[in-house]
Amino acid sequence: MFDRVTGHYDRMNRLMTLGRHAAWCRDVAVSASVPAGGNMLDAATGTGVIALAALEKYPDSTVYAVDFSQRMPAEAASRPGASAIVWQYADANDLPFGDESFDAVIHGYLLRNVDDAERVLEKQYRVPKPGGRVVILETRPPRGPLRYPVALGVRVPIRLLGQIVAGDRRSYGYLQRSTLGFTTPQEVATILRRVGFASITWKKKFPGTRMIISARKQ
Ligand SMILES: C[S@@+](CC[C@H](N)C(=O)[O-])C[C@H]1O[C@@H](n2cnc3c(N)ncnc32)[C@H](O)[C@@H]1O
Repeated sequence: MFDRVTGHYDRMNRLMTLGRHAAWCRDVAVSASVPAGGNMLDAATGTGVIALAALEKYPDSTVYAVDFSQRMPAEAASRPGASAIVWQYADANDLPFGDESFDAVIHGYLLRNVDDAERVLEKQYRVPKPGGRVVILETRPPRGPLRYPVALGVRVPIRLLGQIVAGDRRSYGYLQRSTLGFTTPQEVATILRRVGFASITWKKKFPGTRMIISARKQ
């Protein structure tokens, strides 16, 4: 599915988030707190927006960007600045890196697309250095008194834009369901704690439908 949406992915993302996606990617990069000359892994890079934001924030660092889609990173690799990033094919369930390889692991919209988020986070715990961070950008279901109007505001535009802009109702139907169907920051924090991470914090974004969660490897 991600191979199929590649051509429209960035435009759709800009429209669906009213242009906020790039700012959230920069926020993820800042939260990664990578030391001078450090390195980081973007674990589901897609079209590379987070990896490129990370390199811009830490120009003397090494950024590895992996994905299991073939087309998404191929598109990303042709962008300005992309030649400084190490692009690689990898499944987040089986990261081909040694223990304690990175100062930070970052990702956007990975967890809601995997079968077992706990397993993926367990695998991720292995690759940061002690004290290194994992920073996660994800969707979260709207809560509180505005949850129904906000859910409607997600459902209708995503389906319409998917149909009109991307001509791909099926993929964007999935996106809309997974956006509203993923879990709360509290539940992600519980999983992070279970797999060993500490110092877990989160910020809510975009009337309660996005979150940025940060945690530290002990
Ligand atoms: C919604 S896109 C997000 C892309 C990018 N991180 C962003 O914020 O725009 C989700 C990406 O996760 C990738 N993905 C999903 N499951 C994966 C897995 N098990 N291993 C590696 N990549 C995966 C998909 O191929 C896709 O590129």
